[in-house]
Amino acid sequence: MPTTIHDLKRMKQDGKPIPVLTCYDYTAAKILDSAQIPVLLVGDSLGMVVHGFSSTLPVTMDMMLHHCQAVARGAKNALIVIDMPFATYSADDFSLSLKNCARALGEGGAHAVKIEGGSGVARLVAGLVAAGIPVMGHIGLTPQSINQFGGYHIQGKEEHARKRLLADALELESAGAFSIVLELVESKLSAQISQRIKIPTIGIGSGSGCDGQVQVFHDVFGLYEDFVPKHTRRYATVAETVRAAAKQYAADVAAKKFPS
Ligand code: KIV
Repeated sequence: MPTTIHDLKRMKQDGKPIPVLTCYDYTAAKILDSAQIPVLLVGDSLGMVVHGFSSTLPVTMDMMLHHCQAVARGAKNALIVIDMPFATYSADDFSLSLKNCARALGEGGAHAVKIEGGSGVARLVAGLVAAGIPVMGHIGLTPQSINQFGGYHIQGKEEHARKRLLADALELESAGAFSIVLELVESKLSAQISQRIKIPTIGIGSGSGCDGQVQVFHDVFGLYEDFVPKHTRRYATVAETVRAAAKQYAADVAAKKFPS
């Protein structure tokens, strides 16, 4: 049976940390599924690590659907969450948001959507949940607003920001979100939020007090070399392995050792 949003809530209740990885294609989805990663996030980070943009802002709905369909073909057990890209949803336009979220599930094959924002999108989240769309929230550093943040900095250092982030989490929970990503949230605050709400928090750069952790595939497996976030731990050095293998292949072809 594929993982469901209810399994994630149970994992929180049972004190079992939830590992989440981003995934953007069929081959990786098959590998992560066979490694029993329970949640795959088709993140709009694909704009940077797969397509080479400098932010997530140029990512379109069609790009997300294209990648999500490939992941859905490869993953048979994981819950697939898709990021709704920039400007495909809005607190002021429910019908646009519903139309795009419905495409994400219907055409993309995702089981749930993730949207960025706190109390400002709480009513939208409630509407989407009422329409049958499971929603994961995302607060703290929200990359689609990078031009407002002015850089990737830890959020929730000042008292007013701490209060706002806690209020955001509580409002998203009341709106019916099944989980919330906390990105670059000060670690004591993320632990406090995780204790206050019943739905699982999934942290990235937010310390060990979250109910789960999410990391970008290309960061943890050492594929993306342009920039390595401070919060990443490298579990493999795939770029180095592929580079060395590619050199060997070229040398073998040059020396007429391949094909033999
Ligand atoms: O797009 C993404 O990969 C994300 C995670 C970093 C949470 O939103």
